[in-house]
Amino acid sequence: MNILAIGDVVGSIGCKFLRAHLPQLKKFKGIDLVIANGENSADGNGITPTSANFLFDSGVDVITAGNHTFRRKESYEFFDSCESLLRPANFPAGAPGRGSCVVDMGRIQVGVINLMGVVYMESMDSPFDVADRILSEGMPKITLVDFHAEATGEKRSLAYYLDGRVSAVFGTHTHVQTADECILENGTGYLSDLGMTGPVHSVLGVKPELVIQKMRTKMPVRFDIADGPCEMDCALFHIDEKTGKTLEIERLRLA
Ligand SMILES: [Fe+2]
Ligand SMILES: [Fe+2]
Repeated sequence: MNILAIGDVVGSIGCKFLRAHLPQLKKFKGIDLVIANGENSADGNGITPTSANFLFDSGVDVITAGNHTFRRKESYEFFDSCESLLRPANFPAGAPGRGSCVVDMGRIQVGVINLMGVVYMESMDSPFDVADRILSEGMPKITLVDFHAEATGEKRSLAYYLDGRVSAVFGTHTHVQTADECILENGTGYLSDLGMTGPVHSVLGVKPELVIQKMRTKMPVRFDIADGPCEMDCALFHIDEKTGKTLEIERLRLA
């Protein structure tokens, strides 16, 4: 089974680029399921029902999120009602939505878990403990984890912790694709960060001059999304349906 995971989609420019390329890629690579991180898919940050539906209509099956999940109030109800729109599972109880889901593909089921790091990020429940809890409650043999985190060390630690218990762990949040894809000893596929779907000439999707201004002055600056050519960073996990283990990872960067 081929499962594609797409890095943080930034703004309508990133959403449109995804729509222009995903259908063809799905056909060309024989992709069965698509997971995309949509935490920045709305213009002006966060995710809205409109940006989420745009991604679903473009061929994304499960949307994950991260630290920008609840930037937009208009999405709270949608997080509660839409089963394939996830927020990190280690948010405090009482936050809208859910942190994991199971996609029923008829002959086979696929689980997706979204977690957020706690190193150099807001404090949350332990992603390690929450992963244990979700897995002990029962997830399908094929289950993938989007670990939305800053620190590579934390990402690798969680991957080793879950090695053999999930099919794959991939990172999001940094918007910069890493080149460390590997299959761990017990069959879990791993990549520290998928990267981003958005403007190439940018700092994490934002106009560079605005980020430079912010860095130099430490004053509040409105971040506008950059324009120009885009890229779609993603990774294709080829998973053995019988064992749930990753057989091969193909890291992709469409530009
Ligand atoms: Fe992001
Ligand atoms: Fe993030």
